[in-house]
This record gives sequence, structure tokens and C-alpha cells, in this order.
Amino acid sequence: MRLDYLSIFPDYLAPLGLSLPGKAAARGLIDVRVHDLRDWAHDKHRTVDDTPYGGGAGMVMKPEVFGEALDDLRIDGATVVVPTPAGRPFSQPLARELATRERLVFLCGRYEGIDQRVLDHVATRAELVEVSLGDYVLNGGEVAALAITEAVVRLLPGFMSNADSLVTESHEAGLLESPVYTKPASWRGHDVPPVLLSGDHARIEAWRHSEAERRTTQRRPDLLAPVTLDVPGEAGGADDT
Ligand code: ADE
Repeated sequence: MRLDYLSIFPDYLAPLGLSLPGKAAARGLIDVRVHDLRDWAHDKHRTVDDTPYGGGAGMVMKPEVFGEALDDLRIDGATVVVPTPAGRPFSQPLARELATRERLVFLCGRYEGIDQRVLDHVATRAELVEVSLGDYVLNGGEVAALAITEAVVRLLPGFMSNADSLVTESHEAGLLESPVYTKPASWRGHDVPPVLLSGDHARIEAWRHSEAERRTTQRRPDLLAPVTLDVPGEAGGADDT
């Protein structure tokens, strides 16, 4: 998978050379290229932003700089990921979807965001996916791009040495993971649940599953809620009775 990042803070993306993505790059699974967006600015100050039309606070990232960068990076046919609080909520299914793509190009915005025409233009040349990490505001897209990258890269075929851990971990089964323990069996007055010491694999599996359900019910009941679909022709959707 090829991964490109456009950012005015390329140093912020240095962790891509470490840890998990670093390991994937060393194994030849990913080809990572970080680009300084200011390299495509032409003025003395390498300006990338300007005041918003219509007034208001903050600055907006200019379209021309992105336009030239996207041309040089030949984004045609790629999947362009734009981290923004206005995007599709990031999730394990979305990570799995992105892991199937051959090339991801991350556009890291700063300030009040990127001129909308950049996104409209991208959508005519590439698959555009605007992604939100959650309902809070970061100062820019870099941290979100790192998080999305980590979630995607670990799903690439050949990355995980123990493929089983993908199946059992949180969110892969639609449930949170059950608690985990290691030695010693007793520590500061807290004991490992005896079932885990029993050697009875069927009972251990049953315990793990019921713990996962209990945790999910307590902490994230939204994950268990049935999906309601909007039925065409019924204003307000299926649950509007
Ligand atoms: N950029 C700023 N805030 C963000 C968020 N919550 N998710 C993704 N990108 C962002």
C-alpha cells in the first residue's frame, strides 16, 4: 500500500517511521511518503492560508497550493482521506475498508479547514473519504492521520504475526474485549479470575464472551443497539411511530 501525507507540519508525522508503520515499511508492506505542503506555495512566505469569504474567525487553507500538490502526486484513482470533525466517524469497519485500498493520500488541514473546492475537485479524480476521529476538535489533521494509519496498517495482510489477535480484539466482533491478565496469579490483593487458571478452554471461552458482553453493555450499549434504517417514503424513518 502506498501512503502519502500532505501537511504543513511534516515533522509531526515522524512517528510514521517508528513502531508499527515503521515495521510495515521495513517489511515492504507500505511505502510512506510525507510531503511539506508549503513546497507547492510560490510566494516568499510560502503562504498556505487566507481569510474566509463571508467573514468570520480564523483562516482557510487555499485551494491553489493543494491543487498543484495533488497534480504532482497524481492522485487520480487513489483514495484521498481528509481528517475533519465533519467527516464519517472512524470505526473498525472503516479501517477494514481502507485497508483494501492500494493507495491512501492524507490531506492534513489546519486552521478552520480546507477550501471546500479542494474536496469537490478531489471527488472528481479520486475516492474522497472525510473521516472524523470523534466529537472533539483537534488543531489539525496530523494526529488523526496517524491514528487512522495505525488502525489500517495493522490490518494489512502479512502484517500481524499472530492473526488470531485480530479476531479476538475489541470491535472486531462488535464487542469490547474481555479483561486480560498475566502472571502473577495474585498481585496486591487482586486475584486472576480462577476460570483462567482452570485449563478448561471451553469454559475460558464462555467466560471471555460473557465478560465481553457485560463490558459492552455497561460501557458501550450503543454498540449493541439494533441499527434502524430510514424507510423511503416514511418521513422521520423507521422508528417514527
Ligand atoms: N481535525 C480536527 N479535529 C478532528 C477530528 N475530531 N477528527 C479528525 N480530524 C480532525
